[in-house]
Amino acid sequence: MRFERSHTRKAVALAVVSSLVLFTAACGGGDDGSKGNTGSAGGALEGRGPIKFATGKDTSGNLTSQVAAWNSQHPDEKVEITELPESADQQRNQLISNAQIKSTEFSVLNLDVVWTAEFAANRWVTQLPEDQFPDLGKLLPSTVATGKYRDKLYAVPVTSDGGLLYYRKDLLDKAGLKPPTTWPEMIAACAKVKALPEGKAINCYAGQFEKYEGLTVNFSEAVNSAGGVVVGDDGKPNVDTPEALAGLTALAEGFKTGFIPKAAITYTEEPGRRAFQDGNLLFHRNWPYVYALANKTDGSSKIAGKFGVAPLPGLNGPGVSTLGGHNYAISEFTPNKATAADFIKFMSSEERQKANVEKTSQAPTWASLYDDAALNKQFPYLAPLKASIGSAKSRPQVVKYGDVTTAIQDAAYNTLKPNGTDPKTALKDLQTKLSSLITQ
Ligand code: GLC
Repeated sequence: MRFERSHTRKAVALAVVSSLVLFTAACGGGDDGSKGNTGSAGGALEGRGPIKFATGKDTSGNLTSQVAAWNSQHPDEKVEITELPESADQQRNQLISNAQIKSTEFSVLNLDVVWTAEFAANRWVTQLPEDQFPDLGKLLPSTVATGKYRDKLYAVPVTSDGGLLYYRKDLLDKAGLKPPTTWPEMIAACAKVKALPEGKAINCYAGQFEKYEGLTVNFSEAVNSAGGVVVGDDGKPNVDTPEALAGLTALAEGFKTGFIPKAAITYTEEPGRRAFQDGNLLFHRNWPYVYALANKTDGSSKIAGKFGVAPLPGLNGPGVSTLGGHNYAISEFTPNKATAADFIKFMSSEERQKANVEKTSQAPTWASLYDDAALNKQFPYLAPLKASIGSAKSRPQVVKYGDVTTAIQDAAYNTLKPNGTDPKTALKDLQTKLSSLITQ
């Protein structure tokens, strides 16, 4: 297979570079700092009363019960959930439209980890006094960093996210195979499984390739897992490189050879999860929340108990996850900031996070929960997940994140779609675009 051969050549050439990058500390890079919110002292959080909590569609299914726990203890400060769309980009658009008119509608905002700089610099969210959030020191440090802008806290991490490789253990066992640790191993494993009668119809691999934030995540993982960077440690974009090319080419070849099914160009998290749960995928890149849902024995999953979870494979060694997750922030425009702050403390508490991981398998941000024996028994992937989150790469932490992610999505989508642009041209153009968006 053409992909496998060129892949192996590049893999050898990249071995040294990728191992260096893999062990470099996670660092988002650039900040164009175009707006001047350098942060005030983090004033008093005052005002109490009922509030609204704006959050993306709850695909994990447990948010209502978490909020009900708060409401039963706070009858005069009830929290009402406003569910925004499923896609991160659409959530962002709605939150921004609201903030731009200084709407008092929402008090607590569930922010994707990549939006902190933009929301803080535009003064759409309130700076949080760190001393009012004493548990911060007990959270995974990489998650706390995502809630900061220019060293000041604007949002508190409630769930983290690291990419995982879901695989059909039953089929790999039948073929006498262990979970793959590299992309070529994954391709070879799929060919073996497809040679089995029970593997004949299965598709090999899918991540998230629709043109939205999830594509930025998958593109970044492909680039980082091939030893490249999107933004370097110096804060400058650097995607016109052989390493980034190897990463994007791996995805493009995946589509061309059929290793990634055509339908995956429309996949966001949920359609991918459903394809995996319906037994149509051998390998699937997704977030931890899929674990609990795919293991449900109520008939919604055809593969409960038949799959395993492994770290993401890289081009020639371990892969690099993109750091995901969600932080809660207080709208600058809400009159009820004291209630909002207490609700955030409640939702980010160890007790609530434990309850949440038990129900949803979402990645907690409390470090201690990763060492909890009972939880590790229930979710055997917690230890590798902690490591994956610790070494995960952040997406660029920039004020103009919306433009940056759009540029990345355009480049990746135009390459991966049928009859797409060649990866080299796409990366060259992307480098030009990112350089104009991310300036020091
Ligand atoms: C998950 C991640 C988030 C990411 C999104 C992409 O929700 O937690 O960080 O941006 O997926 O779809």
